[in-house]
Amino acid sequence: MEPDQQEVEKPTDEFVHQFAKDVDEGLSQTPKKLNSKYFYNKRGDELFQAIMRMEEYYLTAAEFEILSLQKEKIAEAITYNQGTFQLIEFGAGDGYKTKVLLRYLLKMEADFEYVPIDISANVLEQLEDSLKAELPDLIVKPLVNDYFKALEQLQSNNQQKLILFLGSNIGNFTPQSAPQFLGHIAELLNPNDLLLMGVDLKKDPNIILAAYNDKHGITKAFNFNLLNRMNEELGADFDIFNFEHFPIYDPVSGATKSYLISKRDQTVTIGALDKQFYFEQGEPIDMEISQKYSIKELEQLATKSGFKVVKHYYDCKHYFTDTLWKIKA
Ligand code: AVJ
Repeated sequence: MEPDQQEVEKPTDEFVHQFAKDVDEGLSQTPKKLNSKYFYNKRGDELFQAIMRMEEYYLTAAEFEILSLQKEKIAEAITYNQGTFQLIEFGAGDGYKTKVLLRYLLKMEADFEYVPIDISANVLEQLEDSLKAELPDLIVKPLVNDYFKALEQLQSNNQQKLILFLGSNIGNFTPQSAPQFLGHIAELLNPNDLLLMGVDLKKDPNIILAAYNDKHGITKAFNFNLLNRMNEELGADFDIFNFEHFPIYDPVSGATKSYLISKRDQTVTIGALDKQFYFEQGEPIDMEISQKYSIKELEQLATKSGFKVVKHYYDCKHYFTDTLWKIKA
């Protein structure tokens, strides 16, 4: 292990400071809110891996199917101009799905380097190790940074760029905030660059709700893990038994939301903030949004964000799409 990677395993002072600040801000709002990006510490990464293997969590299987069955068409669409390119992945995770595409691109001798970007050094390290073992010919240049800082860093390189943003991670943005995020990406891209984004689609509400309300309580544990993380890293005293996990899906707006509901009137102390927060019985904490889109809404999102749709790739059930965009001329 390299020294600079070791440091990031234990949260840095800077990270803890930002975490504390975000928690303070979120818990001071009405309704109380926590940022779902903090789900992903070591335990959170493990729980999310478990979620992706769950029967109910159809998203991973659907996207895996798209990439497996349509990799030829997708590869053709992204290598049409036959030059060298950078394949830049936002929130790469374990690369389980991306490897399907990477393996095929190597097989067709495409000239590219793979740049996985993640805020978790831990995740990137593991990904790099597994890629070295499984795809030794792949050129990998991981970047530990947030997406935009990383993308700005990559600006100086004028190769064609293909951004991968898989897994319906865009769902963690509200429909109001997604255009700004995607618009920022569009501003950093050139006319030849592409974005391939995984998006979970509106479908039978029962199927969607079950994916966020699994019978083994893994999603519940994933949410409670953030309370435990605040106990460990911010010296808080949350008692998870004083909260209930309550996910909902609204088929009109397409919002899937996870709430933790306070089971009683209680006060929680957060040591790092030297502050107490009062929770009324029945009071929710807004933990996460996983937004679902119709195709029409997705196309409106592209337009609003400064993109135009090149093509939608679907799984056979049309539960999910990997949608290929380029910037509006
Ligand atoms: C990683 C944000 C795509 O919203 O579906 C899974 C995270 N939360 N189960 C999602 C998640 C609860 C996931 N994303």
